[in-house]
Amino acid sequence: MSSDKIIIGQDGDVVLREITEADLPKMAEYSNNTKVSKNLRDGFPNPYTIDDAKRFFKMVSEQNPTTFFAIEYKGGYVGNISLSVGTDVYRKSAEIGYFIGEPFWNKGIATKAVNLITKFGFEKLDIVRIYTGIFDYNRASQKVLEKCGFQKEAIFKDAIFKNGKLYDEVRFAKLKKDNPK
Ligand SMILES: CC(C)(COP(=O)(O)OP(=O)(O)OC[C@H]1O[C@@H](n2cnc3c(N)ncnc32)[C@H](O)[C@@H]1OP(=O)(O)O)[C@@H](O)C(=O)NCCC(=O)NCCS
Repeated sequence: MSSDKIIIGQDGDVVLREITEADLPKMAEYSNNTKVSKNLRDGFPNPYTIDDAKRFFKMVSEQNPTTFFAIEYKGGYVGNISLSVGTDVYRKSAEIGYFIGEPFWNKGIATKAVNLITKFGFEKLDIVRIYTGIFDYNRASQKVLEKCGFQKEAIFKDAIFKNGKLYDEVRFAKLKKDNPK
């Protein structure tokens, strides 16, 4: 890993850093997977091409400050993680989102990445609450959030319409006041 990339956190082999153009081929490869896209909103393209990765990179490059980051494992790009800060009365909250390329699942990478971006969010962004909604069949992601100390707050019945079927959404959140430094 070159030292000129902006790093926002590191835990052993897992690093969160700015996304670079060099990540785009792997981003497109790992994103072009229905086992990934079935857990994400329909705004996440499927199939996912290199042009989709380039469009995403352009959007991220125009953000200031950026809240989308690359997840690196043992020096290589493996996925993305983001915090989308709310507006108006929700401006003290941020929604977390993430994915890891399938070859790297079940190595504890997402757990480390979520902990790192949570710490970054509470310490560097002016937010007090990080939340997300998980599709009810996505047990792995719920497990990650539980391991990171997020609380299950609610189940929104039939909130998700994905691939022609209705699913419940499981809402998780973590509060800054419950997050010891
Ligand atoms: C969800 C995702 C981010 C998890 O990443 P990861 O790096 O594999 O996560 P971790 O290794 O840190 O933890 C995964 C945990 O889920 C568990 N798990 C995996 N599959 C599971 C399943 N089908 N049912 C229950 N638990 C499962 C693992 O055993 C592990 O728990 P453990 O450490 O107690 O053994 C990854 O699978 C992914 O990117 N999926 C597609 C996109 C996605 O779902 N994004 C999140 C949208 S909210």
